[in-house]
Amino acid sequence: MCDSSRRARWLTALTTPRIPPRLSARFGSPSEAGRQAVLALLRDDWQSNGAADRGQAGESPEEMLRDLEARTGRNRRLVIPWLDAARPLADAAILEVGCGTGCGTVPLTEQGAKVTGVDLRDDSLRVTRARLEAQGLSARLIRLNADELAAGLAGESFDVVLFWASLEHMTPAERLVALRGAWDLLPAGGLLGVIDTPNRLWDYDAHASQLPFFHWLPPRIALPYAARSSRPSCRALAAADEDALYRYGRSVSFHEFDLAVAPAETLDVVSGLDEFLRRHNFPRRLRWWCPGRDRRHARRLRRRCRRVHQAFFEESLQLLIRKP
Ligand SMILES: C[S@@+](CC[C@H](N)C(=O)[O-])C[C@H]1O[C@@H](n2cnc3c(N)ncnc32)[C@H](O)[C@@H]1O
Repeated sequence: MCDSSRRARWLTALTTPRIPPRLSARFGSPSEAGRQAVLALLRDDWQSNGAADRGQAGESPEEMLRDLEARTGRNRRLVIPWLDAARPLADAAILEVGCGTGCGTVPLTEQGAKVTGVDLRDDSLRVTRARLEAQGLSARLIRLNADELAAGLAGESFDVVLFWASLEHMTPAERLVALRGAWDLLPAGGLLGVIDTPNRLWDYDAHASQLPFFHWLPPRIALPYAARSSRPSCRALAAADEDALYRYGRSVSFHEFDLAVAPAETLDVVSGLDEFLRRHNFPRRLRWWCPGRDRRHARRLRRRCRRVHQAFFEESLQLLIRKP
């Protein structure tokens, strides 16, 4: 093993909380034939989709698969233990809005959750289905716009509804309708979760343009300014419309939840991922007590709205709200 991968492993081990053995025992991996089937789908999509669509970083199908597997692994180690601590996943009815290519669907299903995944894109749902099959798993996958949850899932109810790296890809109108629809699908005590969603209150747009302040610009300024991004797929937005700007990715803040669900200071945030990781991992806790620039920034933001939960001021929105 080379020095850099040894260092990466050591760093991961140091900053990963201990995973309960009953969870790690269910972590799976795809069969080789199943993996090749997923790769074939990614190759088909890569050939038939436009260049701007070929993964945000313009990766090859092989790189995309490695990226999906790495994200799934990270979700298993960091997100699954957090979710399971808030609501045991075995047998939980979970709606995943914007499930994409399954980096959340696979680790949730592995744990015995009954997952319904919805997404706009058929090609992504096909990849998710193949990834599940490659591990002998299955979930209900439906092509649906998140602004149609109320009609598409009428009469259903879920223990948890998750927006996992998806809310930031919706238009402003879709965000509000989707959050309202999701809230209505929860019973009292159910959890609404947002995970891996860039926070609009931070000043650097690491998620989409990789430019400072880009996500603060009004769309009519942001679209032509996208030409300054170092990412080719983002530069292509200079010739696109406002919806494409949002579909590409535009950060979110507590304001959407305030408008769609309830005033932000009244939301019952039962858990934030950052706080969970700090509680369960000493090096992360140490960083909290010896704050660097980022931590000081998060605290300064909170001082502006002291009654809003701290999790809404972290760099990524990763929190669970309980319905009263
Ligand atoms: C960055 S991907 C994340 C996928 C997955 N949750 C994950 O963590 O890997 C965002 C997904 O949200 C989906 N999406 C965006 N807007 C949507 C909408 N209005 N309704 C349903 N899905 C949407 C996209 O099609 C895409 O698959």
